[in-house]
Amino acid sequence: MKGVVLAGGLGTRLLPLTKVTNKHLLPVYDRPMIYYPIQTLVNAGVTEIMLVTGGSNAGDFLKLLGNGKEFGLKHLNYAYQEGEGGIADALRLAEHFVDGEPICVVLGDNIIQGNVAKAADHFRRQKGGAKILLKEVKDPQRFGVPVLNGEWVVRIEEKPLHPQSSYAVTGIYFYDPLVFEYIRSLKPSARGELEITDVNNAYIKAGMLTWDLLEGWWTDAGTIESLYLANQLVGQTGANHLAEAA
Ligand code: G1P
Repeated sequence: MKGVVLAGGLGTRLLPLTKVTNKHLLPVYDRPMIYYPIQTLVNAGVTEIMLVTGGSNAGDFLKLLGNGKEFGLKHLNYAYQEGEGGIADALRLAEHFVDGEPICVVLGDNIIQGNVAKAADHFRRQKGGAKILLKEVKDPQRFGVPVLNGEWVVRIEEKPLHPQSSYAVTGIYFYDPLVFEYIRSLKPSARGELEITDVNNAYIKAGMLTWDLLEGWWTDAGTIESLYLANQLVGQTGANHLAEAA
């Protein structure tokens, strides 16, 4: 399994913090935000990783991360996203790197207490398709929200005004290589972006999406409130270390 970390975007919800740097280079407690999603992949046993970023600070990632030695990696791969086409548009750039393998995609501002090794194992055993990780939250309207019918995710609604469940679709996704075909078939959303939620809905339509609950705390760090929370959570308990029961 290969890994892709998506770290583009303008980070407008964090202005003025993001006026002169990329959101994912901002500190979360004792290290830059981008360290956490990379560690999430490494902890899940994924060692071939591509980072997709963009904007005028892209070169800073190379200076910061180099070849990934701090994470015990031999190489890190990089791709540059032109413009702000959305999460699925950024993922498209990893097609050549992924080269027909299953992937774990982590959004660069998603930080977890535990690890996703167990979910990765479940996905490896699943014959193709996709897997999402859900987490119960107090403010689902900020996220992609699953509409559930018993065990089944019927559809995912992106930032709904009236959420149909109290779960968020976290920014950690497992896909088979067909994901790139699905991305090619997408149309931009009302905000002009290719949405990862539309990719997941395409897998639901094909009957090929499974889900697990994520253990331990989870937060994004894309707003002032959630960045502050991320700092507190990491400061109190540390990230990426909670052992998951086998
Ligand atoms: C993105 C996705 C959303 C998901 C969230 C997780 O939203 O579009 O479905 O729940 O990441 O962090 P964003 O925060 O980029 O607006």
